[in-house]
Amino acid sequence: MGGKYATETLQANEGGIARAAAILRAGGLVAVPTETVYGLAARADSEEAVGRIYEAKGRPSFNPLIVHVPTIEQAERLAVFSARSRELAQDNWPGPLTLVLPRREDAELAARVTADLPTLALRMPDHPVMAALLEAVDFPLAAPSANRSGFISPTSAKHVLASLDGRIDAVIDGGASRSGLESTIVAVREDDTVEQLRPGPIEVARRNSGSGTGSIEAPGQLASHYAPGKPLRLRADDRADDEFMIGFGEIAGDCTLSEAGNLEEAASRLYACLHEGARSDKPRIAVASIPDRGIGAAINDRLRRAATPPD
Ligand code: TXA
Ligand code: MG
Repeated sequence: MGGKYATETLQANEGGIARAAAILRAGGLVAVPTETVYGLAARADSEEAVGRIYEAKGRPSFNPLIVHVPTIEQAERLAVFSARSRELAQDNWPGPLTLVLPRREDAELAARVTADLPTLALRMPDHPVMAALLEAVDFPLAAPSANRSGFISPTSAKHVLASLDGRIDAVIDGGASRSGLESTIVAVREDDTVEQLRPGPIEVARRNSGSGTGSIEAPGQLASHYAPGKPLRLRADDRADDEFMIGFGEIAGDCTLSEAGNLEEAASRLYACLHEGARSDKPRIAVASIPDRGIGAAINDRLRRAATPPD
């Protein structure tokens, strides 16, 4: 693809993780598998390294990053935990839950990570490769999804290379992401109320009533996101000749999310099907109806954004 980096593909073994740790220590960028999607990691304590993330993704600097940690103790050195947020961390970490908490003033973090917000997004991922990498280094890792800004999130090393080859130092190939949708994001407020900022694999709070309208608190939650680069039609019963069909349950497709109608399976395959649809020679994509219960709500959230044309 060309670019200023010769992007290395690393194996998900001891050697690959050691190499990735060395690149990160030196301030480089490594795409790393997690249980949700692949993340584009850089050391979170370096302005320069974090600046490279924004540059490689073409991400607007006002959109803050999630910081990944290996332990709750490390998280507590970066943000102020209340009884409620500690309980949420203990119940759900490691796992696909991101907590937005007040940032500690003495946190050793680059200012760019939080884009000048007084809050910090934190997560402890549940993936052996990401966990080993976090253990191998002695700094937290800032990691947004490893895709060009606005494009579909990656659930394989191949997806990462499709949008970032030549723009990052390395990718660790850890196979397909298990969960397949980005983490649930909740903010814990000063009065200990919990507000959901992004639906995802874990349900802890009802969707906040102002969500989708009014002020955008998670700036990445702009209406148009995860865009496959072509029109997307939702709740389709069948396909037109010029459409790539993404099926579910009884409705078969060119790519089917889950023949059995299983929502977890559908979540894990969503981005792979969107990537396939984006690559196909069909100019449009149609997607079958997905029930709005459980993780189906998070799938429909991503699909609505994918269907919204960019400004
Ligand atoms: O599953 C995930 O969360 C993946 C993996 C790699 O961990 N990461 C991910 O990062 O999805 P990203 O950058 O694609 O999405 C992070 C979201 C953005 O919408 C951003 O605006 C929001 O988190 N965010 C980050 N810091 C925030 C803060 N302090 N307050 C509110 N929203 C924040
Ligand atoms: Mg993203």
